[in-house]
Amino acid sequence: MPLTTLTSARLTLRPPQRVDAEAIFTGYATDPAVARFVVWTPHQSIAETEAFLAHFLEHGAEDDNYPWVITRTADAVLLGAVHLRVEPPRAELGFNLAREHWGRGYGTEVVQTVMAFGFGHAGVHRVQAVCHVDNAASARVLEKAGMRREGRLHRYMLFPNLGTEPQDVYLYAATTPTVI
Ligand SMILES: CC(C)(COP(=O)(O)OP(=O)(O)OC[C@H]1O[C@@H](n2cnc3c(N)ncnc32)[C@H](O)[C@@H]1OP(=O)(O)O)[C@@H](O)C(=O)NCCC(=O)NCCS
Repeated sequence: MPLTTLTSARLTLRPPQRVDAEAIFTGYATDPAVARFVVWTPHQSIAETEAFLAHFLEHGAEDDNYPWVITRTADAVLLGAVHLRVEPPRAELGFNLAREHWGRGYGTEVVQTVMAFGFGHAGVHRVQAVCHVDNAASARVLEKAGMRREGRLHRYMLFPNLGTEPQDVYLYAATTPTVI
């Protein structure tokens, strides 16, 4: 499926563009608090953000991998990023917001919107996400968006900002679309 723009009550999720590099760099890419529980490390220069974006732009549509930037519809401010990887019968999402925009329900709105998009794919019966066991905000967002915690996966993956020991994560999933 081609990259599409998704909308929700307050947000527009659109495919990233090269010109987004500056907003991503100044908005969140250098912030260790945002990067703590994700798989990338804080960017040291805007060139790193540009390279990161270029990778997404080149590989975005491959393997049913959908990247979006999260923007506020009212003023087009870039708030964060989210992606979905579709591998029927499941799809998996990951997301982040700039710290100044936390705590206003945007994360929940994003997850619900991307979940609906995932369930719209033929053959997708499950949308899932993993989050580090200490990432309470993410766990709460996934629950509020309608996912259920299915269990704890031990020493499941590396988090480059937390050292070299594999870390435990919670596996969250929804198996029926949430009505939004
Ligand atoms: C996870 C993230 C996207 C949440 O976005 P958000 O817009 O702040 O989320 P919402 O406002 O929809 O909901 C946040 C919920 O978490 C709760 N929360 C926040 N920090 C918390 C904490 N330290 N402990 C417990 N709950 C917490 C809030 O109270 C809120 O729940 P409530 O509505 O019941 O009060 C944002 O924190 C983020 O970008 N974090 C860094 C990147 C990241 O970890 N991404 C997830 C990778 S799996």
